[in-house]
This record gives sequence, C-alpha cells and structure tokens, in this order.
Amino acid sequence: MAENAFEGKVAVVTGAGIGIGYEICRSLANQGASVVLNDIDAHLAQEAADKIKQAGGECVAKGGNASEPSFVASLVEEAVERYGAIDIAVANAGVTAYGAFLDYTEEQFETLVSLNLRGSFFLAQQAAICMKKQNTGGRIVLMSSVTGHQSHPYLVPYGMTKAALRMLAKGLVGELAPFGITVNAISPGAVLTERTTGDDPEFEEGWSKATPNGRVATVEDIANAALFLVSDKARHINGHTLLVDGGWTATSAVPTLNIPD
Ligand SMILES: NC(=O)c1ccc[n+]([C@@H]2O[C@H](COP(=O)([O-])OP(=O)(O)OC[C@H]3O[C@@H](n4cnc5c(N)ncnc54)[C@H](O)[C@@H]3O)[C@@H](O)[C@H]2O)c1
Repeated sequence: MAENAFEGKVAVVTGAGIGIGYEICRSLANQGASVVLNDIDAHLAQEAADKIKQAGGECVAKGGNASEPSFVASLVEEAVERYGAIDIAVANAGVTAYGAFLDYTEEQFETLVSLNLRGSFFLAQQAAICMKKQNTGGRIVLMSSVTGHQSHPYLVPYGMTKAALRMLAKGLVGELAPFGITVNAISPGAVLTERTTGDDPEFEEGWSKATPNGRVATVEDIANAALFLVSDKARHINGHTLLVDGGWTATSAVPTLNIPD
C-alpha cells in the first residue's frame, strides 16, 4: 500500500492502548490517517497516542469504556470535532473471557456481551450515522475471532459473541451499502500480544505447533488485513469475514490447554 494511502482519512479505533488495536492505529497514522485512539485505561491510551505522535503521526487519545453506547458516540464526535469527519471505524475492543460453561456467571456474561457486542454494535451505528450524513461512504471493521468459526473449550460465550460479530458485518450490508459504507470483520487466530504472552508464557510455542503455518500471528499480520479492508482497494468487499489464522480453522487443533484464572 502507498505510504500515504490514508492521507486525509479519519479513523476511530477502540481498545488500542496495546496489542492489535495499537498496531492498527500506528499503521494508519504512519500512512497519513488522523486517528482517535481509545482505551479504557486513559494513561495507556495517552502513552500510545504519544508514541504515534512522536513518530510523526496524527493521533489523539480518548480514555473510556467502549462498552458504553454514549461513550462510543463521543469517540465519533471527537473525530468530527477535531478532524472534521469520520471515514474509518474499527470496533477492536473485546474481552477474551475464559470460563467453564457450567460455572459461567451472569456478571461474566454481562461484561463479555456489553463490550464485544453492545460496544461494537453502537460504534458501528454511530459511525454509520455520521458517514451517511457526510455522504462520503466509509469503512467499518469488526474484530471477530477464529473462535467465532470453530468451537474452543472454555471460550464458548466468547466464541458466541465473535460469531455474532460476523453476522453483524453481513447483516449491515443491506442497510449501509446504499450509502457507500462497507462493513467487514477480521477473525484472527492466535496473536502474539502483551496480553496473550502475559496470560500464558507457553502461548507462542503451543499455538505455533497447533497452527498449520507453524507460527502465531504478529499484530502486524492483523493490522495488514485491517488496513486492506479499510482501504480503497477493498471497495468491493462487503459483509466479509477475513480469517487471518495461518490455516488454523482448516484443522482446528487446540494446544494443551493453559487456561488463565
Ligand atoms: N490476541 C489474540 O490472540 C486475538 C485472537 C482473536 C481475536 N482477538 C480479538 O482482537 C481484539 C484485540 O485483541 P488484543 O489481544 O489485541 O486485545 P487486548 O486484550 O490486549 O486489549 C487491548 C486493549 O483493550 C483495552 N480494553 C479492554 N476493555 C476495554 C473497554 N471496555 N473499552 C476500551 N478499551 C478496553 C485494554 O485496556 C487493552 O489495552 C479483541 O476483540 C480480541 O477479542 C484477539
């Protein structure tokens, strides 16, 4: 992709202080986009935005909870007030909550559904309202997971939310395509992030063995897919979920389970 492929574009990305979301923000800003970077941890969001700005990118931090519809609406408002428009919304924030089905609590369920589903749904809605008003088209990306395609023990409620996001991407096509807005999802397999390696020191070794390509994904692998889907080159891709899993869903081998508490 050209170095300035996103010049003049404005993006909002949730859950982006570290991990996949941060890399999406960094790559977008690096290619000319102005970015509203959200994280629930305001300090982390500020640090992340500062790093992007130090590298010459345009980025503003917005700390807050991406589960809350009123807060995600304020992210879109921030993009418009500060940068004049919104062109790209990436509903990246998601909680990966391991838990046995037989012990799963209402509280765990609420936390999971409110971020993975409610937050993503209302970010897409608020971004689409604004894109329609601007009459500029737009790009929305939802962060699903391979566990929304294939079952994974102790990730059943999580997988359920991730499967729903794939359906959200498909479902919105009929209502948003007439306005030039595309909605797609990405399903990462195992990705090396601060969280995954922190939760499980054997994450990389275990998942590398279970992944046909012989390695886990890097955050760059997922950001590359996201940047393609939000670029002009992907203008005719709509309602699609892009698997970025090194072939994992083709075989679905699960490594020895090391479940964080
Ligand atoms: N890492 C993987 O292996 C993997 C695999 C498949 C799918 N995914 C999905 O990709 C997305 C990003 O994953 P990750 O591992 O980079 O994320 P992560 O778990 O490392 O979290 C990234 C950031 O999100 C923030 N966050 C948490 N709750 C939030 C909230 N309510 N509002 C705003 N920010 C919040 C955290 O503070 C953190 O800094 C998630 O939706 C995840 O489900 C990740």
